[in-house]
Amino acid sequence: MAQKMKTAVLVSGGGTNLQALIDSIDRGEVTSAELVCVIANKENAYALERARKAGIPAKAITANFEEEALTFLKECGAELIVLAGFLSILGKGILSAYKDRIINIHPSLIPSFCGKGYYGLHVHEKVLEYGVKLTGATVHFVSEEVDGGVIIAQKSVQVRHDDTPEILQKRVMEEAEWVILPRALELVAAGRVQIQGRMAVINE
Ligand code: GRF
Repeated sequence: MAQKMKTAVLVSGGGTNLQALIDSIDRGEVTSAELVCVIANKENAYALERARKAGIPAKAITANFEEEALTFLKECGAELIVLAGFLSILGKGILSAYKDRIINIHPSLIPSFCGKGYYGLHVHEKVLEYGVKLTGATVHFVSEEVDGGVIIAQKSVQVRHDDTPEILQKRVMEEAEWVILPRALELVAAGRVQIQGRMAVINE
């Protein structure tokens, strides 16, 4: 059995994307990665509770994040980082230590509705304001440019005329985020994603 990729998950809130990763590993859908630690940048993030219930080492780091997180990541032997509902911008220290080894889930079809100020419910408010008929989620590699890294996976979701931001967010999470994040983790951890310029070539 090939060595599983030691994966850290960074969170800020409820942790439903973390839960999707935990469940997909438990169901044997993700076989090339193991979750070795969870780091929250908020003291009371429920995602920490989810990690603890799953027996994954977890801690909140609310000061000196860059240095403290790098120390914990190294202690846990993390080789890959997943940003799952992580609502902060990573500094150069972590970005350079984990170049091309950080992936993020964003709740829209990048390059639409992304970048500065587009996170959480705000994304879905803008989607409804604009009146697009399709939205969805994107998993991409993390680079210095916010939401600008090479795209690994996307999945579209219908927008309905009577959607509220909350209803739309729930549908995007259930039908897109929780599906493509585990899939993308498996592909990256299994070494089945090659970056060629702006294109991620997937060995399906
Ligand atoms: C959700 O809006 C999700 O779309 C985005 O972060 C928010 C919380 O995610 N990625 P989670 O429940 O903490 O995983």
